[in-house]
Amino acid sequence: MSRKSFICGNWKMNATHLDAIQMVQKLSYRLELSDYERVDVVVAPPFTSLRSVQTVIEADHLAIQLAAQNVHWEDSGAFTGEVAPAMLAKLGVDSVIVGHSERRELFGETDENVNRKVKAVLAAGMTPIMCLGETLNEREAEETESKVAGQLSAGLKGLSPEEAVQVIIAYEPIWAIGTGRTAEPDDAGAVCEFLRRRFGDEFGGSFAEDVRIIYGGSVNPGNIAALMAKTHIDGGLVGGASLDPDTFASIVRYWI
Ligand code: PGA
Repeated sequence: MSRKSFICGNWKMNATHLDAIQMVQKLSYRLELSDYERVDVVVAPPFTSLRSVQTVIEADHLAIQLAAQNVHWEDSGAFTGEVAPAMLAKLGVDSVIVGHSERRELFGETDENVNRKVKAVLAAGMTPIMCLGETLNEREAEETESKVAGQLSAGLKGLSPEEAVQVIIAYEPIWAIGTGRTAEPDDAGAVCEFLRRRFGDEFGGSFAEDVRIIYGGSVNPGNIAALMAKTHIDGGLVGGASLDPDTFASIVRYWI
């Protein structure tokens, strides 16, 4: 098994481009070269900060990777307010968050939209970070597995195993996002294991061994090590705790 850890800071709608420059510089001061060998360290600033962060990454030769928080699936055209995959790829964006629960819940993104975005991101040579997860009601009704299984197969519909294995699956229980309520590592690990099994049913066991599945929802320096200790959790998608470079750096260096 050679799944490299993947830890992404999702800055959401925070940080001007000037803040963003400082944040990525501070983060880089707090990380050592060996950290990047162990973990793919990723930041996802808002669109308006991508160019600024990319410039810092290039000028300072940083190994920090750049992610976007959203994308449209079309290449170009009359889609006011949207950003095309090629625009992001040209900016040096490595990966794109797709189907975050905030986009699904607040902006009406459907599984079909998510599937189109996943395909468009792959076609542009970037890595989709595809989010899925259940609400509190669904968890209490014991519908977690059916919910995430449905989102997994709808989001990856029509992909070959070689394409699907490039997608990073982010399991984010909605009740744990921004609430300070983290899923118990055992529970989160069990859902990630379930997702890997389902992925294997659709795309084959060897691809399932390689696909990276990460957890998101109130990750912090105090809980990351226990989450990462789970065999089927390969990383984290970190919201609130990624805004402070010191805190995010200690999450990235979770083994210390
Ligand atoms: P949180 O957000 O860490 O603030 O809970 C996680 C996410 O939404 O990706």
